[in-house]
Amino acid sequence: MTLKVKNSAFINLPKIKDGRDGILCVAEQNNQIPFEIKRVFFIYDLHDNSAIRGKHAHRTVEQAIFCIRGDFEIQLDDGQNKQSVKLEKPNEGLYLGRYLWNVMTKFSDDCILLVFASDFYDENEYIRDYQVFIDEVDKL
Ligand code: TYD
Repeated sequence: MTLKVKNSAFINLPKIKDGRDGILCVAEQNNQIPFEIKRVFFIYDLHDNSAIRGKHAHRTVEQAIFCIRGDFEIQLDDGQNKQSVKLEKPNEGLYLGRYLWNVMTKFSDDCILLVFASDFYDENEYIRDYQVFIDEVDKL
């Protein structure tokens, strides 16, 4: 699948296979993760099939998102193009740049999301209103 949404890219993490001893997957800042990592968070316990997360964009923070267990769908919107992507492999993630509206749905019961972020949490850099997002994108 090719991404047509701006400020987004697939990330493929290298896998080191150890046969019966499992798989080790590695991510380095300024390497597979294209920024300095200041924050990591993870999301789990997504047992409600109607769960919706995201519904926002970031003005300054860049993120890299992985589904390290299970699967879910993420709808990306750069203000012009929209695209839905399914994340279902632990080593295949998405780079989410600035000004990218995203909505996450269809989480499997066992789903665990792992997110790397380029800065500390700051509610002021979030855009949580879609019309404000469109207005700000238009002015970029
Ligand atoms: P939010 O970013 O809206 O989650 P999602 O995009 O997955 O729906 O954050 C949910 C809540 O958690 C919100 O009250 C802010 C808080 N939060 C922090 O306190 N620190 C963080 O690093 C993050 C990501 C969220």
